[in-house]
Amino acid sequence: MLATEPTATILTGQQYLSTPNTAPNQAIFPLTAGVNEQDHLTLGGCDLLDLVQTYGSPLYVLDEQTLRTACQQYREGLRQYYGGESLVIYASKAWSCLAVCGIVASEGLGFDVVSGGELYTTLQAGVGSDRIYFHGNNKSEAELRYALEQGCTIIVDNWLELNLLADLATPGSPARIFLRLTPGIECHTHEYIRTGHIDSKFGFDPNQLPEVFAWVGARPQLHCTGLHAHIGSQIFERQPHQDLGGVLVDWMAGAIAAGLPIDTLNIGGGLGIRYTESDDPPSITEWVKAAAQAVESACAARNLPLPRLICEPGRSLIATACVTAYTVGSTKTVPGIRTYIAVDGGMSDNPRPITYQSLYRIVAAGQMSAPATETVTVAGKHCESGDVLIHDAQLPPAQPGDVLVVPCTGAYNYSMASNYNRIGRPAAVVVHQGEAELILERETYEDLVRGDRLPARLKA
Ligand code: LLP
Repeated sequence: MLATEPTATILTGQQYLSTPNTAPNQAIFPLTAGVNEQDHLTLGGCDLLDLVQTYGSPLYVLDEQTLRTACQQYREGLRQYYGGESLVIYASKAWSCLAVCGIVASEGLGFDVVSGGELYTTLQAGVGSDRIYFHGNNKSEAELRYALEQGCTIIVDNWLELNLLADLATPGSPARIFLRLTPGIECHTHEYIRTGHIDSKFGFDPNQLPEVFAWVGARPQLHCTGLHAHIGSQIFERQPHQDLGGVLVDWMAGAIAAGLPIDTLNIGGGLGIRYTESDDPPSITEWVKAAAQAVESACAARNLPLPRLICEPGRSLIATACVTAYTVGSTKTVPGIRTYIAVDGGMSDNPRPITYQSLYRIVAAGQMSAPATETVTVAGKHCESGDVLIHDAQLPPAQPGDVLVVPCTGAYNYSMASNYNRIGRPAAVVVHQGEAELILERETYEDLVRGDRLPARLKA
């Protein structure tokens, strides 16, 4: 090496592991991550190599303790920093399945669902409809009927939905609704995951509010007690949610003046997480404190009583709780350009890099203290050049059969997974205190053709 060359710090996998008691959304690995005597990564007391041996790969590994800690930090933050009643609801679009619903429900959270399927899943997990909130910009009539029958709160997005609900509900059995409004607040995140700016497909335009409030107020079959707004996702600033608190309180004043019995404000979700060291989100507690105090001071300034405050995080509750384990297969070195290491999954189990150019870290689970001396491109196995999980990953030399682990894959990974190339979706296990339990079975070839129908005349 030339004396003038900068000496890059070569990290080991171990150095990515979190320190205990960090806020889950500020850690890269689950809070229980460790390294055992064999130099293997462990989560929830389970050896990742053993898990892959038992359940195969790719494998989603969900650490129960990290998910529970995140739920508790949200609830505790609101309890500590908000003077009124509060509720945390889990944006189940981040990862909806029975076991996740079960854990989150047992921590006392409610649920945000955005489709009949998410509603069904949540109900199947045993969650009471009194803590389910149904979102969506184009709910079907069948979905609205289902939500009404079950008695959940419907977060109404537009006029079509208001009209449908006014027809479906009766004054004797009114629809419990909130109104979703577009706050016109900009925040710095990927344009696909920004929702609060005025040019958004979600929610009522602020200019329409007097008309909407009057229309709803004139219909006894619509019992509207809340206002909602969501400004985007993976947000690192506190200011947008503080501004949102003020905007919602203003609207609440307008709605109450128009005769609506508004007692709840829902400020949405959106707190970011640390996928790589350069991400710097506030902790869950810091975010909750900022948002809660903004609502409190806006109410004090307008001399309004404190509403019940709801927030509905997804990513910051569950992203860091899960990692994905892959097995290394083929490698290819393009001399002078790069080395590809292919793993047995890719864009079908993690569509976020190809969709949002999201960055991830990766470690070799079987050699956690080995220096990461190689710069490689970790590619998936799909027939698409763009199927790259990580560009310029730092890893120790890898061999076919090695287990690589990508952290921060709990949010919008399984939930956006596909069967591209007819690859079955991975299995998932939950780990806790040294035990692993299957929560999602790996999809089989039979599963892949289960819904296929072959008209007799088309049989080969
Ligand atoms: N509430 C509403 C109305 C939402 O639309 C969302 C997310 C949330 C809450 C939860 O936001 P979070 O706390 O997770 O940021 N697929 C994208 C993220 C899309 C977010 C959609 N809405 C991704 O993989 O980054």
